[in-house]
Amino acid sequence: MKDIEIGRSGLRGSQIALGCMRIDSLADADLAALLTAARDEGITVFDHADIYADGRCEEAFGRALDAGVVRRDEIVLQSKAGIRPGRYDLSGAHLIAAVEASLRRLRTDRLDLFLLHRPDALVDPDEVAAAFDELHAAGKVLHFGVSNHSAGQIALLAGSVRQPLVADQLQLSVAHTPLIDAGLNVNMASAASLDHDGGTLDYCRLHGITIQPWSVLQHGYFAGSLVGSAEYPALNEELSAQAGRHGVTPAAIAVAWLLRHPAAMLPVVGTTRPARVRELARAADVELTREEWYSLYLAAGNSLP
Ligand SMILES: NC(=O)c1ccc[n+]([C@@H]2O[C@H](COP(=O)([O-])OP(=O)(O)OC[C@H]3O[C@@H](n4cnc5c(N)ncnc54)[C@H](OP(=O)(O)O)[C@@H]3O)[C@@H](O)[C@H]2O)c1
Repeated sequence: MKDIEIGRSGLRGSQIALGCMRIDSLADADLAALLTAARDEGITVFDHADIYADGRCEEAFGRALDAGVVRRDEIVLQSKAGIRPGRYDLSGAHLIAAVEASLRRLRTDRLDLFLLHRPDALVDPDEVAAAFDELHAAGKVLHFGVSNHSAGQIALLAGSVRQPLVADQLQLSVAHTPLIDAGLNVNMASAASLDHDGGTLDYCRLHGITIQPWSVLQHGYFAGSLVGSAEYPALNEELSAQAGRHGVTPAAIAVAWLLRHPAAMLPVVGTTRPARVRELARAADVELTREEWYSLYLAAGNSLP
């Protein structure tokens, strides 16, 4: 698997990241097997958030780091904060405290990348900027980004923060495509023409912000895996046909669909099984044709004007 630059930061990481949101379900030995499989496939980017299982995912990863399962200087470690029970909180004091708590749980002195997990209606960009400055100056965070932020929200923050925003982590799978639909349905009166995010895909491309798709195999909001779902018979038929042609699994084709987009996205896969990490990593070896990409988009139930 090749490395890509994340944003225009000089920070390099693998084309596919391993999401660690579900690793609290694993015994330490099983987590070691998962991380070893990822490392062997060339996956170097690991995604966390302070809220995943109330910090237990970060704690488990910290134990694996301590045990030497993966080496700190060989990985890109990223985490997120800003979601609290019943509210969002991008106040400076919360961001600083959250990063420090993540560092303690992860048993490391720095995050390579720290993302604001969700937009906060009460955000003060200057306060975020001061928090970023403090975290950056202390060497606790090397690079910054956002998650689930629209183009306008990124622009608002970018007007204040001194460090470049290098990534936006957004929900995107072949069965969940609001980021893409509006751009294909300009001028139409259909629901697909609704721009839900203010042109975030184009904005990120224009400003060199790496989109990190999350829930790359899910449909709906954690409604289950699109692969094998009875709700998507045509999509599964097309995934299987393409999988057969490329010699990979249907799930790998769903990831290859994201990698085929010229925005150089960095999909975050969330499996907890080493065998599936190996399967999904094969997506990096597949380059779908334009026809294959559109066939999957249409088979997912979309139409083109
Ligand atoms: N920024 C955000 O707001 C946000 C939100 C959600 C997630 N995330 C990040 O994105 C990562 C991925 O999210 P996700 O876990 O929802 O993504 P996902 O990769 O779409 O889903 C993984 C889940 O699908 C299951 N699965 C079923 N069939 C599978 C197959 N053939 N191949 C692989 N997995 C299959 C996995 O089970 P097994 O474990 O049994 O394989 C696992 O429970 C998270 O870990 C987290 O880091 C970010």
